[in-house]
Amino acid sequence: MLESQNFLVFIVDIPGGENDSSNLAKFVCKHKGGAVDISGSAWRILNSSWIFLGNVFGGKVNPREEAVIILQQVLDNKRSLTQVFNTHFQGKEVRSQSLIKEMCYGVLRFYSKLDAIANRLLAKKLKKKDEDIHFLILLGLYQLLEMRVADYAVVKETVNVTLLLKKAWAKDLVNAVLRNFQRKKETLLKDIQQEAVAYYAHPAWMLCVFSEDWPQDWVSIVENNNIKPPLTIRVNLKKVTREVYLAELIEKGWEARPHAWMSSAILILSNVEVMQLPGFAEGKVSVQDASAQFAGTLLELSPHQRVLDMCAAPGGKTMHLLEQEDSIALFAIDQDASRLLRVEENLKRANLQATLICADASKQETWWDKRYFDRVLLDGPCTATGVIRRHPDIKWLRQQEDVEKIVTLQRQLLHTAWTVLKEGGILIYCTCSILKCENVDQIREFLSSHQDAEEIKIDAVGGVEVSIGKQILPSFENDGFYYVKLRKKRSDLF
Ligand SMILES: C[S@@+](CC[C@H](N)C(=O)[O-])C[C@H]1O[C@@H](n2cnc3c(N)ncnc32)[C@H](O)[C@@H]1O
Repeated sequence: MLESQNFLVFIVDIPGGENDSSNLAKFVCKHKGGAVDISGSAWRILNSSWIFLGNVFGGKVNPREEAVIILQQVLDNKRSLTQVFNTHFQGKEVRSQSLIKEMCYGVLRFYSKLDAIANRLLAKKLKKKDEDIHFLILLGLYQLLEMRVADYAVVKETVNVTLLLKKAWAKDLVNAVLRNFQRKKETLLKDIQQEAVAYYAHPAWMLCVFSEDWPQDWVSIVENNNIKPPLTIRVNLKKVTREVYLAELIEKGWEARPHAWMSSAILILSNVEVMQLPGFAEGKVSVQDASAQFAGTLLELSPHQRVLDMCAAPGGKTMHLLEQEDSIALFAIDQDASRLLRVEENLKRANLQATLICADASKQETWWDKRYFDRVLLDGPCTATGVIRRHPDIKWLRQQEDVEKIVTLQRQLLHTAWTVLKEGGILIYCTCSILKCENVDQIREFLSSHQDAEEIKIDAVGGVEVSIGKQILPSFENDGFYYVKLRKKRSDLF
C-alpha cells in the first residue's frame, strides 16, 4: 500500500478473479478501520490486481459510521471532541463533515437521555466489545428525535452501518430498537421525565452542584447548555466596523445580528464554516463568544504597558488585547506547547506580536525576569461548565473529583499572578465556569488572604449579581463566564 497525503493506492491480488470485488472490499475496510466505502470509487484492474486511484478521504465515507468511530474515541477513550475532530479530519476533505459533526454534537448533547431510552428498548445490556453498536443505536435515536431526516431513511441508513462495522448479527437488533422507538416514542419520553439525569441530559453531580449554586436558575442553565449555540465572532474594530461587516454577512444571504451589549460581537445563525468568513485569513474577524470578548475589554490598557496573558492558548484573548492596543509589550504563557502553536498561528493571521513562553505559569521562577507587569490576565484552567453548549462532551468527561484539583491550581496561579503584578496594577481573573467554588468563593478567599488587593466593580449590562465580580450564566447569546477585577494597592497606602 502506498500512502500520500490525499491518496491511498492499494495493489491487491484477488483470489476470486477480476469480477469478485468482495475480497478487495474486505481488504480496504481492514486497512482503513472500515471507514472506506469503495462503491463508486475509481478502481481499475491491473494484471489481476486492483489498484485504487481515487482520493479516499475526499471520496465517500459513511457519515454515520464515522460518527460512531468519533463517539467511541470521546466516550470510551476519554478524549475531547475538539481534539478528536482535529485529528480525525486533519488534512482530509470529508464532504459530509458538517453532518458528522452535527450527529456527534447531538448525541453528546443528549447522551444520558438517549441512553435511558436505549436501555428501555434493549432486552439486555450490550457487551463492552459491542460499544460501537451501542453508540450506533444512540445515533439512530438522536436522528429520529432531533434531525429533519425521514424516519425510514434514518432506520435504513443506521441499520446498514452494522455491516460496515462488520457486525451483521446486530442488523436485526438495531432495526428492532429503532422501530420500537418509533412505536413507543410518546410513552418513553413521558417515562424519562421522572429521571432528572435523562430528562435534563446532564450527569447527576452537575445537576446537584448547579442547583445548589443557582437554586433559581439551574433549570434555565441546563436548558441553555443543551441548545445549539450561534457562531459568535469578534470583529477587529481596528480593521472594520461591526456595522459594515454585518452588512457584508447579510449581503451573502446569511442570518446574522449584532450582540445585545458586546460592541464587537456578531451572532451568526446560518450554518457557516469559519473559513468562509470574509477576511478571516487576514484577521478581520475571529471566532470568540461575546462573554470571552468581554474579558478582553476589562484591563484598561494604555500604550506601552507590560502585560501578561497567563494562560493564553489558543490565543483568543491575546489577539483581542493586541487588537485594542498594539503598542503593549505582551507576554503570553501556556504550558501546552501544541496549544501555544495555535496562539502563534492566530497572531500571525492578524499580523500581531507577542512574546510566547511555554511554561507552567504557576512556577514564576522558571519564566519570570523579575520585571513587574502593569496588567495581568488570568484566564486559567477551569471546569468549563459555562461552555457546555459549545462543548457537550464536557458533561461526560469532566468528573466531580476534578473540581477540587482545578480549584487548587487556580489558587496557585492567582498567587503567582499577584506576585508578578506591579503595585497599582490590575489583575483580571476570569473563568468559563459557573461553579461558585471557582469564582466568587475562590476570590473571597483570595481577598481575605491578600490585604493589598481591592476589588474594582465591573460596570456592565449583562450578568447576574454576585457579591464579588460579575457572573454571566449560559443563554442563547452568551457562554457562562465569571470575571473579577482586582487592583494591587500601593504598599505605602495600606
Ligand atoms: C481557558 S484556556 C485559556 C484560553 C485563552 N485565554 C484564550 O482566550 O484563548 C486555559 C489554558 O490554560 C492552560 N494552562 C493550564 N494550566 C496551566 C499552567 N499551570 N500554566 C500555564 N498554562 C496553563 C491550558 O493549557 C489552556 O490552554
